Amino acid sequence: MLKGKHIILGITGSIAAYKAAYLIRGFVKKGAEVQVVITPAGKEFITPITLSALSSNPVISDFFSNRDGTWHSHVDLGLWADAMLVAPATASTIGKMANGIADNMLVTTYLSCKAPVFVAPAMDLDMFAHPTTQQNLERLRSFGNRIIEPATGELASHLVGKGRMEEPDKIIAVLEDFFSRKQMLEGKKILITAGPTYEKIDPVRFIGNYSSGKMGFALAEACAEHGAEVTLIAGPVSLQVHHPRIRRIDVESANEMYEAAMQEFPSVDAGILCAAVADYRPETRAQEKIKHEKEGELMLHLVANPDIAASLGAIKQDKQTLVGFALETNDESRHATEKLERKNLDFIVLNSLRDKGAGFRCDTNKISILFRNGERKDYPLKDKSEVAEDIVEQLSELIKTKA
Ligand code: C5P
Repeated sequence: MLKGKHIILGITGSIAAYKAAYLIRGFVKKGAEVQVVITPAGKEFITPITLSALSSNPVISDFFSNRDGTWHSHVDLGLWADAMLVAPATASTIGKMANGIADNMLVTTYLSCKAPVFVAPAMDLDMFAHPTTQQNLERLRSFGNRIIEPATGELASHLVGKGRMEEPDKIIAVLEDFFSRKQMLEGKKILITAGPTYEKIDPVRFIGNYSSGKMGFALAEACAEHGAEVTLIAGPVSLQVHHPRIRRIDVESANEMYEAAMQEFPSVDAGILCAAVADYRPETRAQEKIKHEKEGELMLHLVANPDIAASLGAIKQDKQTLVGFALETNDESRHATEKLERKNLDFIVLNSLRDKGAGFRCDTNKISILFRNGERKDYPLKDKSEVAEDIVEQLSELIKTKA
């Protein structure tokens, strides 16, 4: 899996820097090419000679070569990489990465890097536990960087706790696993609906819901990262897409989402229907703002919106896979199973509003996946990007059986 891969190894000033030598050896043995970028403090802990000998590449530390003035381009390096790994990552470098303090070659390279970034922290237990470090790590996670959690054990200070950089063979295994999973949806086309829909009452009011679109957008990023071409039909949300393989179609109402989904679905391998579509819309929309003129009632007559999932389920071909979501507040499994069958889905992702940290607007979710054969998989509370990985894994298994 690592054969031919280009890996930037960022080394910072930590006692664990000696482990970088084992990392390089491991990567090179598996056929990867390694380019070391080291911070000035890193060079105090391990010599560039060792690193360049093991990687068979000159070690980059400065913006210019002291010898001949050659400019080291962090931009080219960032584009060359299939992955960047910062190991060991000190609290200082993590802080600089989280806040864009680009005062060395390593952080400028990080900012220019389009490839996935892995960070293996190494520091004393109290530094690791400090809210600043934890917030910076959280920020890196929010950028999509993957944190390889440090292990618990004896530290350089002889204290025992969490902060030891993970062992090189385990770090290499994380990257191997990443690249093997990356191929999961290579060449596949996936349609995703996300966010709420707004159903206009008058020019300034609508019927909507609390969906933030975070789960659907995380799914779009995960599918694209695993090689798929993604069409993301998004209701009104304030989120950005990052991956170049995501084509975004913005819609507002359920009807617009329905039109776009019906148009796109025939040409995709799978659809993931994550949107919280309004079930009803006002039958008529007032052309002017409805005035609050007198005391009393305002009657809104609502009509049913099309069920996008059921409509796609009805035209689904055998080779296509369709995944739906069910957000329930009671009798969760029965409702989800009923939807799975009625909408002709291949599996349904169930989340319950009774679970803390699940559902609308959170960054986390707690899901169960229910399959047509009655099989059920329950997952713990996780970050939505990790939940997306779990869903993509199940989806790719199913797509494989239909290929
Ligand atoms: O019936 P319910 O709205 O709970 O079903 C949820 C699933 O159906 C989700 O996958 C949602 O995206 C989809 N859905 C849809 N069109 C609707 C209503 C729900 O695609 N009008």
